[in-house]
Amino acid sequence: MGLTEKTLAPKMEAIYSIEDFVGGQIDTLLRPVGESWQPSDFLPDLTKEDWEGQVQDLRGAAAGISDELMVVLVGDMVTEEALPTYQTWLNRLQGVTDPSGVSERPWARWSRGWTSEENRHGDLLNKYLYLSGRVDMRSVETTIHHLINNGFDPQTENDPYLGFIYTSFQERATKISHRNVATLAKRSGDETLHRICGVIAGDEARHEKAYKLFMKKIFEIDPVASIHAFALMMRKKIVMPAILMQNGNDDNLYLRFSKVAQRTGVYTAKDYAEIIEDLVEYWGVAALTGLSDLAAEAQEYLCKLATRYRTIAERISINGPDRFSWIFGREVG
Ligand SMILES: [Fe+2]
Ligand SMILES: [Fe+2]
Repeated sequence: MGLTEKTLAPKMEAIYSIEDFVGGQIDTLLRPVGESWQPSDFLPDLTKEDWEGQVQDLRGAAAGISDELMVVLVGDMVTEEALPTYQTWLNRLQGVTDPSGVSERPWARWSRGWTSEENRHGDLLNKYLYLSGRVDMRSVETTIHHLINNGFDPQTENDPYLGFIYTSFQERATKISHRNVATLAKRSGDETLHRICGVIAGDEARHEKAYKLFMKKIFEIDPVASIHAFALMMRKKIVMPAILMQNGNDDNLYLRFSKVAQRTGVYTAKDYAEIIEDLVEYWGVAALTGLSDLAAEAQEYLCKLATRYRTIAERISINGPDRFSWIFGREVG
């Protein structure tokens, strides 16, 4: 059931009707450039006389990070580095486009502002990994090359409702993931990586707040279509943006990376359930009244979904060692 002219018109109307609201929120949901952190704030200053000492310190701390956590960090970095794919996708969402590339309309400003904040994530992680000397950078770079070349279809059909449900979920997922890496890095004694992943998680938290807020507004204006979109997106399941990552010698790379993420506790099936629960709660799904039978069915499905996923999560066991070319073919697990 894709977007038809009949289903698109009211959705476009809703998107345009919250444009001013979005415009009024941009300055709090995104940070002004002048007040924003930049990757170099967290990295050795190579113009300084003691640059070698600074690099040595970074490498010394990075040596304490386990191979498993390095694999997760590489996967997270590769995901961030495919940002061109995500900006292209965002600009395909009906009504959320930037028609001229420099439009001052709120949705266009949001799209560019979000992208410019996100751009620092891959940049910072990439430089940290390069300086750490822990990973096979050529292999990692080849994976990024493949991923952008392969593309990504989040199954949102250019529908802005499906799109914002997707991003609400996805930003919370990346927030959780970066925050957990930050915690594990601290535990391993790498204060730099702790700060790096912490500051990125902070951005993801703001972006999550933004997309959830946009979708909350849409729920208020158009509850029936919103609840159907939410249920549809959950039935399709949220596909992670790096699903098409590949590398010459690594089959099923995404699947294998996500197993390591699950095993290290960085991003797990329980997190998936928790995100659903959070969104159901935030959008007040249970409290919606006056729904048609079909919409009430979607409501019931959504309200029970987190528990269903939690039960499945308890049955998942991840084991078995695995090799990754990112860490020179060494075995993890
Ligand atoms: Fe990000
Ligand atoms: Fe993000």
